[in-house]
Amino acid sequence: METPPFFESWYTWIAIFVTAVLAGFRSYLKGPQYFSQTPLDDKVAVVTGGNRGIGFYTAKELAQRGAKVYIACRDSELGKAAAAQLMKMTGSKEIHFLPLRLNDLKDVKRFCEDFKKREDKLHILYCNAGVMLPPPSKTTDGFEHHLGVNYLGHYVMVNELLPLLKTTAPSRVVLITSAAYSLGNIHYDDINLEKAEYGNGSECFTQSKLALMLMMRKLTKLLEGTKVTVNACHPGVARTQIHRYMPICTSQFLYVSTYLICWYLMKTANDGAQTPNFLCIDESLNEVTGKYYVDLQEKAIEGPAASDDEAEKFWLFTLQLLDTAEKTSKSDAVEQVDVAQAGQGDQESKKTK
Ligand SMILES: NC(=O)c1ccc[n+]([C@@H]2O[C@H](COP(=O)([O-])OP(=O)(O)OC[C@H]3O[C@@H](n4cnc5c(N)ncnc54)[C@H](OP(=O)(O)O)[C@@H]3O)[C@@H](O)[C@H]2O)c1
Repeated sequence: METPPFFESWYTWIAIFVTAVLAGFRSYLKGPQYFSQTPLDDKVAVVTGGNRGIGFYTAKELAQRGAKVYIACRDSELGKAAAAQLMKMTGSKEIHFLPLRLNDLKDVKRFCEDFKKREDKLHILYCNAGVMLPPPSKTTDGFEHHLGVNYLGHYVMVNELLPLLKTTAPSRVVLITSAAYSLGNIHYDDINLEKAEYGNGSECFTQSKLALMLMMRKLTKLLEGTKVTVNACHPGVARTQIHRYMPICTSQFLYVSTYLICWYLMKTANDGAQTPNFLCIDESLNEVTGKYYVDLQEKAIEGPAASDDEAEKFWLFTLQLLDTAEKTSKSDAVEQVDVAQAGQGDQESKKTK
């Protein structure tokens, strides 16, 4: 049989070779995929920011395995739509939306109270929601946005839900950080980075992710002997809305001109969800705590995040921060009541004149 002329050309073989190399490299960049048969029937899970991106795909994986999943999201419309979509995709009826604004610590506490009224169990608390490089802004409690949302919101949430996690144990807390934690510093004398130049916000982002690593370290010590584990991961660089404030998304020109290269080099949101899925689900991690994972593999923890003294110091610092914020919000509330009463008094005295 004669070889078709198509295969006689060197160009054809070069094209096949290049395509195979590109496809192989793309598959490598996707990272390993998590496969296991572990069922999650009768388990209860909370996923913060489960309405999109990486959190959405982990919520899907948990629900597919039979867990009752609460997606905790700041936007009711997006949250309800995501819960409906997840139910359609998985066939599960046990996917619920609960509102949660991590940039408002009162709302975080309100969320925890609502959750405790609904459930007396919590097996998986997956702290996934986050922001990266938004324009400079503060949370309701006056904290720099990355610090407030990525760290303090989750700090309060984990602590409020710890009693429930303990009574449900074995249970797990999974924190999503970023490989960029290793570039971070804790600015004790300027925690909201007000004195420093905000720049593009990367110092604030890395500080908040280092803060999560330090929180993991201290929690691991506090939870010794309780069968509640805490682990953290970097999901890889995934094409999600986390990049929404970066020039590749805000500039139409850059977005269009880099689209193909980003599509090729970055993970999908589902690929990014593989390591969080592993940490939330895998039975081999039942007793593993205080570890950091990338691409389903444990990685050494570097810099201040590996120091017990630093974790202790930052934990106490956080308690002070929260205490000051609470006192300020109470005195603001008293001031508001005083102003309102004074206003009422003025009106009444006008009436009597
Ligand atoms: N993608 C990456 O390359 C990458 C790399 C390293 C680490 N991470 C981390 O992975 C996590 C998930 O990110 P993603 O890539 O899936 O990004 P994403 O698509 O932007 O998802 C982030 C989620 O967080 C929610 N969120 C933001 N601010 C919130 C607030 N104040 N209260 C409650 N929820 C809030 C978002 O809600 P809305 O939908 O309402 O905005 C969204 O659901 C983040 O912690 C991120 O730092 C991602």
